[in-house]
Amino acid sequence: MARIIPIATDTDKAEAITAATETLLRHRPVAIPTETVYGLAADATHPAAITSIYETKGRPRFNPLICHMADLDMAERYAVFDPVSRRLAEAFWPGPLTLVLPLKADAGIHPLATAGLDTVGIRVPVGFTAELIRSLGRPLAAPSANSSGRISPTTAQHVEADLGEKIEVIVDGGPCPVGVESTIVKVENGEIRLLRPGGIEAEAIEAATGKTVIRPKASGTAAIEAPGMLASHYAPNASVRLNATSVSSGEALIAFGPRDISGSSAAMAVFNLSPDGDMAEAASNLFDYLKRADASGATGIAVGPMPDEGLGEAINDRLMRAAAPRGTEG
Ligand code: TXA
Ligand code: MG
Repeated sequence: MARIIPIATDTDKAEAITAATETLLRHRPVAIPTETVYGLAADATHPAAITSIYETKGRPRFNPLICHMADLDMAERYAVFDPVSRRLAEAFWPGPLTLVLPLKADAGIHPLATAGLDTVGIRVPVGFTAELIRSLGRPLAAPSANSSGRISPTTAQHVEADLGEKIEVIVDGGPCPVGVESTIVKVENGEIRLLRPGGIEAEAIEAATGKTVIRPKASGTAAIEAPGMLASHYAPNASVRLNATSVSSGEALIAFGPRDISGSSAAMAVFNLSPDGDMAEAASNLFDYLKRADASGATGIAVGPMPDEGLGEAINDRLMRAAAPRGTEG
């Protein structure tokens, strides 16, 4: 069983850094808290370490991993920054933004981490994980700490329930404040292309750069650009029905905002992502409520309408993947 180590006090934190560093040096993965979701981290320069991530998650090896850095200086040792990407790094790091950049081939990121691509996805996370990277002195490859295709974990308990038998250490930083994964962008010829909506709103990227963020032309384009972005992901056991305006028998309800949804009093369980209609609160509750609705015994999960602006873009993206036909998991 995994050991769960809190980081509430400085003493706890020092112990967590020591235990996590020691485990990582043995090329075993460690579950770490980030501001977005919990990650399953391993040394991005070591093949056995990276292999342990793919094996623990049951993840296809064509799906590259995000490499986490302590700061921009460290990131520049491993990737080539164009001016727009550097501007984005300065504006949003540390934080929930991943930049896909040309890889410096001989700098040490192992090809297993990038699935052999000549680019690398990089981000600088907030808080504990940056300290851990500094202690290790190497970048950490870290996908979300869930079995491939399942809902991403936003608490240490979510990680324990899914991977607790397979890993040694879970660092418990409490609930993740952002709650959805990082926004992934790639700058090409000065244009910013959105590969995955996430914790940084596209509108904020546009405000910081004065450039329009280009969305994938049609569904499916992103799947080629970000190889892991297959249609079905975050799959609960119950089926998921979006834009529901009423609840059917046997369903649980995930609502948003003050709007009333008919039949909700007969629902198997009712969750409201944010009764006041606050998007940041909704994002932070999303994965936990999906898991809890799934655990309620409901045969289906009805999800109320959610605006598509700001963080709503990332929330709707995750909901669509949760609702997608199964058999195409990433
Ligand atoms: O917030 C997050 O991003 C979390 C935390 C742990 O940092 N991580 C995360 O990792 O969501 P993961 O593995 O669940 O998603 C990584 C996504 C995948 O869709 C992958 O295909 C894409 O990033 N990706 C990684 N490297 C890439 C590259 N070089 N080019 C295009 N897409 C890339
Ligand atoms: Mg994931």
